[in-house]
Amino acid sequence: MIQEHAVSANRPPENDSPPSQAGNADYQWARFDSEAYFQHYYGEPHADDDRVIRCAVEAMKHALPVDAKLDVVDVGTGPNLIPLFCALPRARSLTVWEYAESNVAWLEAEMLRDEMRPQWRHFWGVTREAYQPEYPLPDDPMPGLRAKSAVRQGSIFDLPQRAWDTATMFFCAESMTGRQDEFEAACAAFARCVRSGGTLLAAFLVRSAGYVVADHSFPCLSLSAESIESVFARHARGIKTERIGIVEREIRSGYSGFVFLTGTAR
Ligand SMILES: C[S@@+](CC[C@H](N)C(=O)[O-])C[C@H]1O[C@@H](n2cnc3c(N)ncnc32)[C@H](O)[C@@H]1O
Repeated sequence: MIQEHAVSANRPPENDSPPSQAGNADYQWARFDSEAYFQHYYGEPHADDDRVIRCAVEAMKHALPVDAKLDVVDVGTGPNLIPLFCALPRARSLTVWEYAESNVAWLEAEMLRDEMRPQWRHFWGVTREAYQPEYPLPDDPMPGLRAKSAVRQGSIFDLPQRAWDTATMFFCAESMTGRQDEFEAACAAFARCVRSGGTLLAAFLVRSAGYVVADHSFPCLSLSAESIESVFARHARGIKTERIGIVEREIRSGYSGFVFLTGTAR
């Protein structure tokens, strides 16, 4: 069952209402309630979460060069360790690039916890299984995650260019602005942060009109698989997309399915 105590669908925000088509700077990212977001989106694992893990692991297994460890960045990580779990077995280093101070603090604290939350145990279990049989992986990913990860506070628009081998991005470029031009600039910055020939993996909400976290509204650009593919065609070759769990009604605030994209940076 979806928890509705702090994040609610289809309810107007009480204390902030940016204009329609507002951009990234019009939202109060510093007030992003990380724990409320975690509880709402990941408190009760959903079959679509397991699907996104399997898609990401499959793409990570094939990230080039396949016989080497990779420098990986995850962009807009938020209160979500799933992309880090998916990258960990292939990673030499793992940069966690997040904008909101609240999420940066939450991520740092989460990685230092002695006990993994049951949700992370579930998601790591799905990740491990997806990496079988090629990769023997430990029961507990947290020591490896702590050793390889560096959390950085920064905007997607300020990513250094050609700095990593592989980049992942789950629900960020479309979920931080209501403006098409900013979405396209964010995708360009994401695609260019890996070397030419590097691997891109990203998940995008489709047909979402925004989400509310603990009474603060956050934007989402309403996209289709075709519109995402046409933006990435400028920056990547060999683009593949998969449509996952796309339904007419919302499953969680602003969520009614997603598109998973992979490609090779130009
Ligand atoms: C919908 S959340 C997605 C969080 C997480 N990746 C997930 O899969 O659940 C959107 C994320 O984008 C981040 N964000 C907002 N503005 C950003 C910016 N300018 N650059 C990078 N990330 C940004 C937010 O702080 C938040 O973590």
